[in-house]
Amino acid sequence: MDVTQIDLWSAENLDNPWPVYKQLRDAAPAVYLEKYDLWAIARYADVRAVLKDWQGASSEHGVTVCKEHDAITVKSILDEAPPRHTELVKIFRENLSPAKLRAVTEAVEQRADALVAECVAKGEFDAVHEISRIFTVEVVSDMIGIPADEREGILRRASATFNIFGPDNDLWKTRFLHDYQALGEYIFSSFTREKLVPGGFGFSVYEALDQGRVTEEHALGMIVTYLVAAIDTTVNSIGSMIWKFAENPDQWQLLKEKPELARNAFDEGLRIEAAAFGMARVVIEDYDVDGVTIPAWSKVVPMLRSANRDERRWENPDTFDITRDAAAHVGFGFGIHTCIGRPLAQMQAQAMLKAMLKHVDSMEMTGPISIVPSNVIRGLDTLPLKVVPARVTASSIA
Ligand code: HEM
Repeated sequence: MDVTQIDLWSAENLDNPWPVYKQLRDAAPAVYLEKYDLWAIARYADVRAVLKDWQGASSEHGVTVCKEHDAITVKSILDEAPPRHTELVKIFRENLSPAKLRAVTEAVEQRADALVAECVAKGEFDAVHEISRIFTVEVVSDMIGIPADEREGILRRASATFNIFGPDNDLWKTRFLHDYQALGEYIFSSFTREKLVPGGFGFSVYEALDQGRVTEEHALGMIVTYLVAAIDTTVNSIGSMIWKFAENPDQWQLLKEKPELARNAFDEGLRIEAAAFGMARVVIEDYDVDGVTIPAWSKVVPMLRSANRDERRWENPDTFDITRDAAAHVGFGFGIHTCIGRPLAQMQAQAMLKAMLKHVDSMEMTGPISIVPSNVIRGLDTLPLKVVPARVTASSIA
C-alpha cells in the first residue's frame, strides 16, 4: 500500500495501530498523509528531535492535527513558548513539587488500598470501571480542590476534550461537540473561587491571578488544562499497566518477587501502551527531518506511541518486560512541553501497584476487552478480571 494513503484514524487502525505505525517507520523519517494534509513522524529519534526543537516545530500555532480545530480550541500552556511558557510551568510546578506530593502520598496510598481491597474481596471486578477511573478522578479532583459534590460526570467530559486534537471525523463530531459544551458549562459553574477548596491547584491559580502572574483569560484555562491533561491520561495508563500484567502473569510474579521494579513497570507500561498518540506542531520554515524536507507551515505530528515501539531504539519492542530500562520512553512527551504531571502520575501508579502487590496474588482476564474509541487517547473501556487474593502478612502491611 502507498503509505501516503494510510488513515491513522480509521476504526481498524485506532483499534490496532501497530502494523501501520511500523509501515510508517519503515517508509521514511517523515511521511506525508494526503487525507489529513499532515506529516507523520514515526521513528523514536526523529520524534525526540522534533519535540526538542520548540522554535522550528512550534506549538504556538496550535497542536491539533487539523487547522480548523486549532481555531476553536482554548489556548493552553501547550500552545505557549518561552518566556510565557516558563512562567506558566512555574505555577503548575508549585502544585506538583516533591513536598506537595509527599504531603498527599499517604492519603493516595490509603485510597488505592481501600479500592483494591474492596475489589479483591469480590473476586471478580472491572479494573477500568472499578479501579483506574474512580481512583484517578478522586486523586486529581483532590489535587485541584474540586469539592466532592462537584465531581459527577467529570470523566466523560474531560475525555471528550481529547478528540479535538484529532482530525475532523465522526469521533470528534459525536464525542467532542456534545460533551465539550457540557464541560464548558460545568467549568463555569463549578470552578469558581468560592467553590474551589483552598490549598488545591485551582485556588492557587486564582491567587496567581491576584498577584498578576496570570491573566483572567488564562486562569480558568489552566484549571481546565490540569483537569483534562491529568485524568484521561492517568486513567488509561493505570488501566493499561494492569492489562499488561494480566496478559503477562510471569511479569506479575516477577514484580511480586522484586517490588523494587514497580517504578520501572509503570514506565514500561507507558512505553508499550502510551496513552497519548501525540500532539501536532507546525514547522515555520522548510524543515529537515533526517533528510526529508517538509514545506514551511505544514502540520507535523510526532507519534509518541510509535516511537515507543521503534525497533531502532528498543529491543523486542512489542514485549512487556519490566526489567527493561524504559525511562527514556516518550509517553510523557519530550522537550520543553514534556509532561509536568509526570511525578503525580508516577505517584498514583506506585500507590496502585503497592496496593495490588499487597492484595493480589494472581489475576486473569475473564472476558473480552475493548479499546476506548478516541482520536488521541488509547486505553481500555473495560478490563474484566478475576483475582486470587494474596495472603496478607505482617510484612506486606508494613
Ligand atoms: C500517565 C499520565 C500522563 C500522561 C501519559 C501524560 C502525557 C503527556 C504528554 C505526552 C504531554 C506532552 C504533550 C506535547 O508535548 O505535545 C503532556 C503534557 C502535559 N501534561 Fe501530562 N500526562 C499525564 C499525566 C499528567 C498529569 C497527572 C498532569 C497534572 C497536572 C499533567 C499535566 C500536563 C501538562 C500541564 C502538560 C503541558 C506541559 C507543557 O506544555 O509544558 N499530565 N502530558
